Amino acid sequence: MFFKRLKEDIDSFIARDPAARSRLEVILLYPGFHAIQVYRVSNWLWKHDFHFVARLLSQAARFFTGIEIHPGAIIGRRFFIDHGDGVVIGETSEIGDDVTLYQIVTLGGISPSVDSHKQVNQKRHPTLEDGVIVGSGAQILGPITVGKDARIGANAVVTRDVPPGVTAVGIPARVVMPRDKEHAKDFVAYGTPSDGCPDPVLHTIDNLRAQVASLMERIDVLERGQVLPDRQTQDGPELLTKKKK
Ligand SMILES: CC(C)(COP(=O)(O)OP(=O)(O)OC[C@H]1O[C@@H](n2cnc3c(N)ncnc32)[C@H](O)[C@@H]1OP(=O)(O)O)[C@@H](O)C(=O)NCCC(=O)NCCS
Repeated sequence: MFFKRLKEDIDSFIARDPAARSRLEVILLYPGFHAIQVYRVSNWLWKHDFHFVARLLSQAARFFTGIEIHPGAIIGRRFFIDHGDGVVIGETSEIGDDVTLYQIVTLGGISPSVDSHKQVNQKRHPTLEDGVIVGSGAQILGPITVGKDARIGANAVVTRDVPPGVTAVGIPARVVMPRDKEHAKDFVAYGTPSDGCPDPVLHTIDNLRAQVASLMERIDVLERGQVLPDRQTQDGPELLTKKKK
């Protein structure tokens, strides 16, 4: 069980960080991974009422990783913190499975509210449901819920509930677009689908392939002794203009 969960944690780093090349690299070089493993121990201690030791351990992890996770927070499986420095996760935060945080993210508290029966609301920090991605520098404050598979943009300040599957950006955060089901199914590194920013090398190769296909067609026409169509209407380079004369 312990090793299965450990392997699952390591593999989630490899799956979600394009820069991670091997399990050894994750184990030795990823502060996010170290902080999460220490949290798993400190959370066990916290739940067994060793509060001081649990806090001590979590502060030691903060010293070495720059990531502060309160041992009382509830965190699900395959949690991924990339880079990590400056991440703060407060005591009553709840985090589902497959959640991703980038650096300098705060899951922060606000003053506890008091209900009509003068009961103090102990929940001060946010809840992130499964699959949420939080961009670098985002601050999510108060006992709000960020719905399943939602994405929070870099540097956003979120103080209200965010519905599932949407993208929220800005200060204060506002929803900019609903995500389609295709996107919601898969993790996209940095929360940013690549279709809006095509790879320039692939784009050039696609253009070259289209030009080769066009030339092949024209050669085919020449070989059959037919008259070539006007070059102006064809895509591709001017290689065949001499033959036309
Ligand atoms: C929020 C995010 C996930 C949206 O990505 P996307 O789906 O590709 O969305 P787009 O880039 O098409 O942006 C949609 C709109 O939101 C705006 N927007 C995107 N990110 C924003 C941000 N962080 N803050 C403010 N506005 C933002 C865009 O300008 C655009 O506005 P427009 O419709 O008025 O032009 C992405 O921009 C983001 O912030 N990802 C986090 C990346 C990160 O933290 N990387 C750190 C890695 S080390």
